[in-house]
Amino acid sequence: MKALVLAGGSGTRLRPITHTSAKQLVPLANRPILYYCLEAIAAAGIREVGIVVGDTAPMIHAAVGDGGEFGLEVTYIPQDAPRGLAHCVLIAADFLGSDPFVMYLGDNLLVDGLTPIVEEFAAYEPDALILLKEVDDPRQFGVAVVEDGRVVGLVEKPARPPSNLALVGVYVFGAKIHEAVRAIEPSERGELEITDAVEWLLRSGCDVRSKVIDGDWIDTGKRQDILEANRIVLDHLERRVEGTADPETRIVGRVVVEPGAKLIRSEVRGPTIIGADTCLVDSFVGPYSSIGENCVLEDSEIDHSIILAGSTVVGIRRIADSLVGRETSIRPSTEMPRAYRLMVGDHCEITLP
Ligand code: TTP
Repeated sequence: MKALVLAGGSGTRLRPITHTSAKQLVPLANRPILYYCLEAIAAAGIREVGIVVGDTAPMIHAAVGDGGEFGLEVTYIPQDAPRGLAHCVLIAADFLGSDPFVMYLGDNLLVDGLTPIVEEFAAYEPDALILLKEVDDPRQFGVAVVEDGRVVGLVEKPARPPSNLALVGVYVFGAKIHEAVRAIEPSERGELEITDAVEWLLRSGCDVRSKVIDGDWIDTGKRQDILEANRIVLDHLERRVEGTADPETRIVGRVVVEPGAKLIRSEVRGPTIIGADTCLVDSFVGPYSSIGENCVLEDSEIDHSIILAGSTVVGIRRIADSLVGRETSIRPSTEMPRAYRLMVGDHCEITLP
C-alpha cells in the first residue's frame, strides 16, 4: 500500500498565517501538523508516500526532505493550482500505479491513526473505504447520504445536510478510483471533487465501504480548528522540563519546557509547551497553549493559544483563543494619546475587549 498526502491548496481560511506559511506546517504542540500525518502513515507500515505540493512546495520540501526522518520514501508531485482533491489523484497516477493507497489531507488530524483503517481495507479489499464522523454542524463538510445504514451518496458542503456524518479527510482507494477521477467533470467551484469521484464509484456499482470513527478528527481549516487540534495533541503531552526556572516560578502539571527556555517569576500550567530559547518574565501561561521558540513573554497572561516562533508579548492581560504568527510584537502603547496603534497585514482578524 502507498500513501498520497495532499499538501497543496490555498489555505484562504487561515490567512494571514498562510500568506507566509503552508497551512500543513502550522504547528500543533510546536510541530507541523503534517508531521503527525506522516508519522501515522509510517506507523501503519506504509513506506512509499507521494506528497502533492502547490505554491508552498519549497517550504514543505524543507520541512520533510526525502522523508527518511519518518522512515518514509517521499516523492513530490507538483500541482499547478488547487484544482481539487480528485485532481490530486489524477496527477499522482504514475506514482500510484495500480496499488491501493491511503489518501490523507495534510491539514487533517486523525488521532487514532491509520492502522485499523488499513487493516479493514486489507480484509475486504473494497474499491474505496471512506471514513465518517458524527459532527454537530455538517454544513462545512462533505456529508454522507445514508439509507438503511448504507452510504448511497455524498454531497459537498450541503446547505441542508442529509445526515450528520461528515466525510473525514482520510480515504483508502483501490485502482478503480483512477477511472473515476478521469470520468468526472469539475464542479461549480471549478474543482474536481473527490465526493464526485466516490459518487461515480457508487453509481458504477463498485464496492464502497464506510466506517464511522469514534476517535478525534479535526480538519484544521480555520483558527478555532487549529486551536482545537492543538488542544488534542497537548492532551497527550508528557512532562519534560529541560529549560531553566528560577525559584519563584511554578510549573504545574504536564508541561514541556524545551532546552534554553528561561522562566522567571512566572507560572505555567499544563498541558502546555514552551519552545526552545523562549523567555518568560512575570508571566502566566495557561493550559492548552503552545509557545514557539525564541519568543519573549513579559508581564503577560496567555491561555488556550498558539504563539509562533520569534514573537514578543509584553504587558498584555490577557490573550486567549488566539493564533499569533511569527516575529509578531504585541505590547501596550506608551505614546499619547492612548490608542490602538496597529501595523497589521492583509486578512488579519483582531478582536478587542
Ligand atoms: P481544503 O482545506 O479543502 O482547501 P484549501 O487548502 O485550499 O483551503 P481553503 O478552503 O481555506 O482555501 O484542502 C484540504 C487539503 O488538501 C489541504 O491540505 C490542501 C490540500 N489540497 C491540495 O493539495 N490540492 C487541492 O487542489 C486542494 C483543493 C486541496
